[in-house]
Amino acid sequence: MNVLGIETSCDETSAAVVTDGRQVLSNIVSSSLSLHSKYGGVIPEIAFRMQMETIAQVVDTAMQEAGIRINDVGLIAVTHQPGLLGSLLVGVSFAKGVHLARGIPLLGVNHLYSHMYAPFVAGVATRFPFVGLIVSGGHTSLYLVKDFDSFELLGATQDDACGEAFDKVAKILSLGYPGGPVIERRSLTGDPHRIAFKCCDTRQPFDFSFSGIKTAVLYCVQKHKKRGVLARTIVDDICASFQETAIEALVHKSLAACKKKGVRRLVIGGGVAANSFLRDMFQKKAAGDKIEVYFPSKALCMDNAAMVAGLGFQLFKKKQRSDLFLTACSYS
Ligand code: KG4
Ligand code: ZN
Repeated sequence: MNVLGIETSCDETSAAVVTDGRQVLSNIVSSSLSLHSKYGGVIPEIAFRMQMETIAQVVDTAMQEAGIRINDVGLIAVTHQPGLLGSLLVGVSFAKGVHLARGIPLLGVNHLYSHMYAPFVAGVATRFPFVGLIVSGGHTSLYLVKDFDSFELLGATQDDACGEAFDKVAKILSLGYPGGPVIERRSLTGDPHRIAFKCCDTRQPFDFSFSGIKTAVLYCVQKHKKRGVLARTIVDDICASFQETAIEALVHKSLAACKKKGVRRLVIGGGVAANSFLRDMFQKKAAGDKIEVYFPSKALCMDNAAMVAGLGFQLFKKKQRSDLFLTACSYS
């Protein structure tokens, strides 16, 4: 069955056609990122205005690239939570319009859970249960996943999301937005042991906290600035030291959750999972504990509609359906 996926939870406008939850016929992602860069973060008003302008074109392109007609679509799966409310409403309203006009079944999909499905779109096959880590700009959460419709929350960030911390550290260092890719790049020439950063402890073992390390970076930068202009090498060292500490916390807690729950499979999704240092560290440390780690391709780590279509297909098989009362919701 062909599923048309629609994803507009943040700054992207994305549409995809995926067959039987696995075969990606098209996956178009249009981003308004360049319009947000100068503000150091996503401006909701700009994001949803761009989405209003582009959604029809993006869906049309996805259909053309897939080489199918609207009558060949068996389901419209749309992200309806969590995310920016105005942005979500663009996708949900568009999907409802097609559902109403063509009588094609409609299903609202949770954005976080769709990140967890991303490795499966690319053909990765693992068994349930597994521990799932979602590490993005808006969320950092650990789940015990027993099925595509069964997510037990084990822990989540108590303050900033990990990607948000990358973005804020990049802002402190005047490196632009988004912070993740540039911090990863600058870390390649930095010394990760030059500065001893630390992630704050949390009361619950599988929760996360990244606001303390972000503030520590701020103080470190202020201290060096008092001595003069920030040298390029110290910026690289701060990036590398921050990156290693933040990622170590993700690795440590995820593997501890696997052990606690007695599962040997770990699936990681979300924008930060595109980080090569993170992927290497997870692979190395998990191998020592005999835990298998699964990632999406780097392109599918970012927000995209293929993962929404894929998860939508699995939930549709489990008889889930939405109707015109489907609402957009900013929280999970
Ligand atoms: O999943 P995503 O595309 O959007 C959300 O749902 O939030 O994730 C975007 C986040 C941003 O915070 C960005 O800085 C981060 O993912 N990111 C990275 C990398 N690429 C993107 N963080 C670390 N290293 C990267 N290579
Ligand atoms: Zn996301």
